[in-house]
Amino acid sequence: MESLLQQIDGYKAEMAAFTALNAEEVELFRIKWLGTKGLVKQIMGEIKQVPNEQKKAFGQLLNEFKLFAEAKLDALQGDNMAAKVQAPSSHSKDDLSLPGDSVSVGSRHPLSLVKNEMVAIFKRLGFAVAEGPEIEDDWHNFGAMNLPEDHPARDMQDTFYIKKPIDGNGPTWLLRTHTSSVQARVMETQKPPIRVICPGKVYRNETISARAHCFFHQVEGLYIDENVSFADLKQTLYFFVQEMFGKNVKVRFRPSYFPFTEPSAEMDISCLICAGKGCNICKHTGWVEILGSGMVHPKVLENFGIDANKYTGFAFGMGVERITQLKYQVNDLRLYSQNDIRFLKQFTGVV
Ligand code: DAH
Repeated sequence: MESLLQQIDGYKAEMAAFTALNAEEVELFRIKWLGTKGLVKQIMGEIKQVPNEQKKAFGQLLNEFKLFAEAKLDALQGDNMAAKVQAPSSHSKDDLSLPGDSVSVGSRHPLSLVKNEMVAIFKRLGFAVAEGPEIEDDWHNFGAMNLPEDHPARDMQDTFYIKKPIDGNGPTWLLRTHTSSVQARVMETQKPPIRVICPGKVYRNETISARAHCFFHQVEGLYIDENVSFADLKQTLYFFVQEMFGKNVKVRFRPSYFPFTEPSAEMDISCLICAGKGCNICKHTGWVEILGSGMVHPKVLENFGIDANKYTGFAFGMGVERITQLKYQVNDLRLYSQNDIRFLKQFTGVV
């Protein structure tokens, strides 16, 4: 009995001192001590020789010994896993202690930033967003907007035609030249009161330069209800400009002509680039045109069965590129679509 206790103590000391360098050594430890023919099993068999009155106490001792061996094995297995993670074997090419590659975060396109801001401002005034197709028929882009086929103002729009019927039958397909086509789509499906803005891409057959492009973006606005007046139009647009550019910016309205509005006006703001002193952007006038607008022409309302004696409305359309140019001083339209990372990166973090 005495010698058994000594043996157990000796075994414990041996196990406690044991260290393993790799998984194979851990496995050898397991086989030696806890395997089916291991020393723990062997010594547990010794209980047979112990006198009955000591069996209980000795049994407890043996149990503790077994738990000791299992705990040691657990510890060895844990250490071995940790060692694997920290120090890769010499076969591995990867040094896992090196810092990771940094992930470069993209940025929103400046036109998206400005478009989102425009939408947010008009939403605060209760406008909902409406969208329409970029491939349009002649009626929605021109006819419904009071631009019949022989109208001279059509020439100004440099239209990309996709399909013109040879015999005059069937629809003419084109790339929409303005987002005013979405006004038509909204009036076709909704009854007044209507209060929508329509952001989207438009196309015109222009030679690409710093000042012109064959596609660009517009935001259209349409408000139809009873008693909508020109004063509402002015105040809405004035609010927009102040929200977009700050309280110090000045605005002015100039009479203009659009077939779909009567009366029509263009709106200028004081040049933000030169603060009104005169520069290339404002062509040395101190003013920059930012939008076209007017009271919706009664003919347009009637095209959609809206009673022009009961309802009036205003509409406006502006270019997102122009607003972005003034906001971020981008002086070449081509930059927007060249995808030059040095340009796009300047907008990182702007939301
Ligand atoms: N559609 C015009 C254009 O592309 C812009 C415009 C002017 C839209 C006056 C309007 C408006 O709704 O009332 O040049």
